[in-house]
Amino acid sequence: MAFETITVETEDHVTIITLNRPDAMNALNDQLMGELVSALQAAQENDKVRCIILTGSDKAFAAGADIKMMSEKTFVEVFSEDFFGPDADAIMRIRKPIIAAVSGYALGGGCELAMMCDFIIASETAKFGQPEINLGVMAGLGGSQRLTRFIGKSKAMDMNLTGRFMDAEEAERSGLVSRVVPVKKLREEAMAAAAKISEKSMITAMAVKESVNRSYETTLREGLLFERRVFHSMFATEDQKEGMAAFMEKREAQFRDK
Ligand code: HXC
Repeated sequence: MAFETITVETEDHVTIITLNRPDAMNALNDQLMGELVSALQAAQENDKVRCIILTGSDKAFAAGADIKMMSEKTFVEVFSEDFFGPDADAIMRIRKPIIAAVSGYALGGGCELAMMCDFIIASETAKFGQPEINLGVMAGLGGSQRLTRFIGKSKAMDMNLTGRFMDAEEAERSGLVSRVVPVKKLREEAMAAAAKISEKSMITAMAVKESVNRSYETTLREGLLFERRVFHSMFATEDQKEGMAAFMEKREAQFRDK
């Protein structure tokens, strides 16, 4: 597939999607969102691919939705097209693990896109923010919802009301990102994490993703029951037999996604 606003490479079992609108700090427009969804769906359908990395440049993961594109839009237009809603829904339907590798700015829709991934590895230069209030609008892809669940009400209010940026150290302390690494190591670290995930049973990895995500959708009691039943169901897989046999035989497991 030929893309203009992203690049896509597949190395071993990992597809790396790089947002690539350098002149606009990787701002999200219709074309980029469409290409991103296509690339993610292709990775989902490719049996060789076991993990996906979404990244940007050293300067910007993405500086938000494209303001030039949005500036002339009316309520009727954004409401009718459900602006970026179908794209976000499509991203959330990807079942393979997605790691966001973030350097530089992840603002507005950029921060929200990173939060749609399964976890975020940030470089020391990463800056997260929901500055939409400065434009006379507010977050529209999770900045008032996911961010609040990830870092709590006080910090989420602070970010959304003042529009201030959070650096990588604060983002890690707040639980928004899982680890912080030097800029030069970002790709290497994300690839190492993706390679680790790729060694697991894909069935188990997809079940883990579904179960952790379920915790944001349901009560604790229902979530615990969901988790327990999914755990039980794994005993129907060959990979459970293989994983446990390998432990007892003191060897590496050879999972076959069955
Ligand atoms: C369009 C953008 C852009 C954006 C940057 N650019 N962000 N274009 N949409 N979101 C463009 C600039 O216009 C400029 O192009 C070029 O990228 C470089 O940006 P500069 O501002 O010159 O760079 P710098 O001074 O280093 O500042 C970087 C920055 C700043 C802090 C990231 O650009 C900025 O504040 N951007 C806007 C961030 C923002 O408000 N995001 C939220 C958007 S609303 P030219 O051609 O002028 O040189 C949103 C809603 C999501 O995301 C919900 C959707 C449903």
